[in-house]
Amino acid sequence: MILNNLGHTGLRVSALGFGAMHINDERTTEAEAGALLNHVLDLGINLVDTARGYGLSEERIGRHLNTRRADFVLSTKVGYGVEGVPDWTYDCIVQGVERALKLMQTDWLDIVHLHSCPLHVLEQGEVVRALNDCRTAGKLRVAAYSGDNAEIDFALVCGAFGSLQTSVSICDQAHLNLRAARADHAGIGVIAKRPLAGAVWRHAQRPDDFAEGQYWDRFKAMSLPAKEDWADLALRFAAFHTGVASAIVGTAKPANLRRNIEAISRGPLPAELVVAVRAAFDQHGDAWPGLI
Ligand SMILES: NC(=O)c1ccc[n+]([C@@H]2O[C@H](COP(=O)([O-])OP(=O)(O)OC[C@H]3O[C@@H](n4cnc5c(N)ncnc54)[C@H](OP(=O)(O)O)[C@@H]3O)[C@@H](O)[C@H]2O)c1
Repeated sequence: MILNNLGHTGLRVSALGFGAMHINDERTTEAEAGALLNHVLDLGINLVDTARGYGLSEERIGRHLNTRRADFVLSTKVGYGVEGVPDWTYDCIVQGVERALKLMQTDWLDIVHLHSCPLHVLEQGEVVRALNDCRTAGKLRVAAYSGDNAEIDFALVCGAFGSLQTSVSICDQAHLNLRAARADHAGIGVIAKRPLAGAVWRHAQRPDDFAEGQYWDRFKAMSLPAKEDWADLALRFAAFHTGVASAIVGTAKPANLRRNIEAISRGPLPAELVVAVRAAFDQHGDAWPGLI
């Protein structure tokens, strides 16, 4: 597995990361979740991404990976969902971090994102201060922001974040022009979320999910040259783009996990294919912002 520096954070992360959003409920049994999480690490993937909002995901990571904690980089997201505490306040961040530590049975978190924190809250500064106070206290290593568009623009220049998580895929390229270069220049790590654009090519009908529906429209409108293996093209496009340290694919299926490992092992796409995918998006670029 290829390991990349996550900006200047000192962390090294696998080019393929694991998005643990899909092990959020009983559609994946406890035994399946445990086997999948261990399989992820056995395959050499060392970045596991979760969030307060991903149902059973954090609890399951704690339950099934607590004896292997030193073997992986643990990323989560906070800002909401602490009982009795208003969302997006200093106390919500501090208690959210404490809650995540306890639930995931660990003494430290590697990367903690403010999860789609609204711009005006970011600008006000209290939650940013809370996250960095947690870092100073040794509870987390990297203070990070997760989101897109104007919020990412602010996060890039405010100097408070070592890493960003943002949408990067064949159908979501808003980050790739100015923002990716800026992050690279500033030594800010970038984690690509939704790197397969939800694998929308699988669906005969437009998906109901808001983001996947939009990705489906974009995929059709881009009229990319037909490919037998869209997952291969999509993953290699996102994972090997300049400045991207890791592409966190979500899956609950071990077979897809292995396919994704194989795709990464094939390395970057041919340059002319990357140019074609960029051009197909750029025809619509201004009308297609990043999707949270
Ligand atoms: N910060 C945020 O606000 C935010 C928002 C969205 C996502 N995320 C993060 O990003 C991660 C990924 O996002 P995502 O899951 O929405 O999108 P994604 O990774 O672009 O796509 C996931 C979908 O692709 C399918 N898939 C995976 N590998 C495949 C393959 N080789 N061939 C065909 N289909 C494949 C999965 O289905 P199967 O289960 O059938 O494999 C799943 O439905 C999440 O887990 C989460 O960690 C963060």
